[in-house]
Amino acid sequence: MDFKFPSTKRIGIDLGTANTLVYVVGEGIVLNEPSVVAVTAEENRVVAVGHDAKNMLGRTPGNVVALRPLRDGVIADYTITEAMLSYFIDKVCGRARFFKPEVMVCIPSGVTQVERRAVLDATMSAGAKIAYLIDEPLAAAIGARIPIAQAEGHMIVNIGGGSTESAVISLGGVVVHSSVRVAGNKTDEAIAAYAKRKFNLLIGETTSETIKITIGNAVVPTGKELKTMEVRGRDNITGLPRTIVLDEAQVNEAILPSLLEIIKGVKEVLEQCPPELASDIIDKGIVMSGGSSLLRNIDKLMTEKTGVPCHVAEDALLCVAKGTGVAMENIELYKRSINKK
Ligand SMILES: Nc1ncnc2c1ncn2[C@@H]1O[C@H](COP(=O)(O)OP(=O)(O)OP(=O)(O)O)[C@@H](O)[C@H]1O
Ligand SMILES: [Mg+2]
Repeated sequence: MDFKFPSTKRIGIDLGTANTLVYVVGEGIVLNEPSVVAVTAEENRVVAVGHDAKNMLGRTPGNVVALRPLRDGVIADYTITEAMLSYFIDKVCGRARFFKPEVMVCIPSGVTQVERRAVLDATMSAGAKIAYLIDEPLAAAIGARIPIAQAEGHMIVNIGGGSTESAVISLGGVVVHSSVRVAGNKTDEAIAAYAKRKFNLLIGETTSETIKITIGNAVVPTGKELKTMEVRGRDNITGLPRTIVLDEAQVNEAILPSLLEIIKGVKEVLEQCPPELASDIIDKGIVMSGGSSLLRNIDKLMTEKTGVPCHVAEDALLCVAKGTGVAMENIELYKRSINKK
C-alpha cells in the first residue's frame, strides 16, 4: 500500500493587492482568489474571504464591509491581512494540521523595512513555522523563466493591481529597481473619474475594471471601428440609474496618464542601469508580467516610449506565484535574495 508520510508543506504566496495566489511545492498553484475580506462593521469579525467577499464589494448591507487589506501593493490593514493569510493557509494545509508549513511570501520591492516586518509577523501569526520574503521582480523573473543566475542583464516589469515593479536582474540579484504605486487600480479609478467628469455618471470599481478589461487599449486603434460598451451607473445629479456608451478612445484618454506614470518608472530603471547591462537589455528586450500587462497594446506603448522591445510573458498573471513557489522549492539557490524570520 502506498503510504505518504505527512510532512511539512512548503508554500509560496503571491500576496497581491488584487489577487492572492498560493503555490504548494510539489503541486503547483492551488489557490487563486481576490484579496478581499468581508468583516462585520462593529466587531471586525471576518465573515467571508476571497471570491465570496469580492462579490460583496460595493453591495454590502450596513453591518458588513468588504475590505481590501492591501493598498498600493502594501499592507494597509495588518489584522485583516493576517486573517486573510490564515484563511488561505488553512485552506491549503487543512485546519487540523500537524506540521506548520514553511511559507514564502512575495512583496513589492518598494516596501519599507517596517512593512517587511509587518508581512513577516502576519505570516508567522497566520501559522507559519518559518516565514520568508522574496521581492516581486525577482519572483516575477523566475516565474517568467528568465535565466536570472547568468552574468547578463535582464529586465522585468511586473504591472499588478497596486504597484508596478521594474527591475534589472543579473547574477541572481536585483541591480536597479523602481517601484511606483500606480498599476491596474489607478487605471480603474481614472475610468471612474472620467465617467463622472464627462458624463456626471457614478460607477463602482467593479464596473470600471470591467470596462478596462473589455474595451481598454493602451493605443487608440486607427483605421478601424472603435469598440464600444454600454455602461450603467448612477447619475450624479438626479441620483437615478443611467446608461451611457463609452468607446475605446475615451477609455484610452482616461487611462493614458496612469500608463505614462508606469512607463516613467520603467525609464528610471533604464536610466540608472549600468551600460553593460543596458546593452544586454536592448538585445533581449523587456519582459512584462502581472495582470495589468494584459491590457491591450501596453507592450506596444512601452516599446514606443522606451525604445526597447517589450513583450508580455506567458501566463503573465501567474508568474509571481510560480516564481515564489520555485524559489521556495530551491531556497539554497536564492538564499542571497531572501529575507527570513
Ligand atoms: N485582461 C486584462 N486587461 C487589463 N487588465 C487586466 C486584465 N486582467 C487582469 N487585469 C488587471 O490586473 C490587475 C491584477 O493583476 P495582479 O493579479 O498581477 O495584481 P496583484 O499581484 O494582485 O497586485 P500587486 O502586485 O500590485 O500587489 C487588476 O488591476 C486587473 O484589473
Ligand atoms: Mg503582484
